[in-house]
Amino acid sequence: MNIRPIQQQIRAIAVSEGAGVSVHRSIGTPALKHLDPFLMLDHFGSDDPDEYIAGFPEHPHRGFVTLTYMLDGHMEHRDSMGNRGDLRAGGAQWMKAASGVIHSEMPKQTNGLMRGFQLWINLPAAEKMSDPAYQEFAPEAIPEVAGEAVRVRVLAGEYAGQRGVIDDPHSDLLYLDVTLQPDRVFDAPLASARRAFVYVYEGGALIEAAHLPQHSLSVLGQGDSVRMTAGPEGARFILVAGRPIGEAVVQYGPFVMNTRAEIEQAMRDYRDGRLVRVKAAFGQ
Ligand code: CO
Repeated sequence: MNIRPIQQQIRAIAVSEGAGVSVHRSIGTPALKHLDPFLMLDHFGSDDPDEYIAGFPEHPHRGFVTLTYMLDGHMEHRDSMGNRGDLRAGGAQWMKAASGVIHSEMPKQTNGLMRGFQLWINLPAAEKMSDPAYQEFAPEAIPEVAGEAVRVRVLAGEYAGQRGVIDDPHSDLLYLDVTLQPDRVFDAPLASARRAFVYVYEGGALIEAAHLPQHSLSVLGQGDSVRMTAGPEGARFILVAGRPIGEAVVQYGPFVMNTRAEIEQAMRDYRDGRLVRVKAAFGQ
């Protein structure tokens, strides 16, 4: 067994996105612009019950997939495909924006708390202008492997014989939410063909002798397995992996394409009301 070491570690930086929502961004910052196939990772939250959360009103996306996972609180959303719903704590939403989606995402507190993650996963060139798609999973639908030392929620990919519910065929996605008791060890096989990272959102952990503090993102190097040891306060983290696409990435805000010309086309399409090709009446 060859344990994948830390290849790069960055601290998430606080960015302002949507009034009243604090966001720790790791992938998608100057220190780690992209981690093919991942374009962005935001850890958002609020623990002030008096805070007014404006959320993220109507905005576009083209060229990639957004994956939202709520830890606390809930998220009301509606989109140009006609989906509308309320993503509860522990639930996940997979949205393939592809050729174009306009949506709103409005996080809400429960008992003063709201927390979650949004991951942007790139699409290969051949899929960027395909039809959008949407899947939402209630918390009860997500398999869980619970032992005395570790509890693992399997959102995507496989762990200990459980298969996650989210199928992201282009990235061969693995997405685990792991809660590890103090000083205990978590092991999972994970070959180098998939680019992988760990983001610690509570407590702290170690990979061999290297410390992974809260709000750190560690990119994993070559090897065939992941081994994490929780610190004395325990650890909660997500382990995410996907197959790199290996194509040019040109990004302008919510549009991620392969060339500058395609970005300009996306901006024209949005301006002219042609971004959304598959639509239902929005806002009804
Ligand atoms: Co969005």
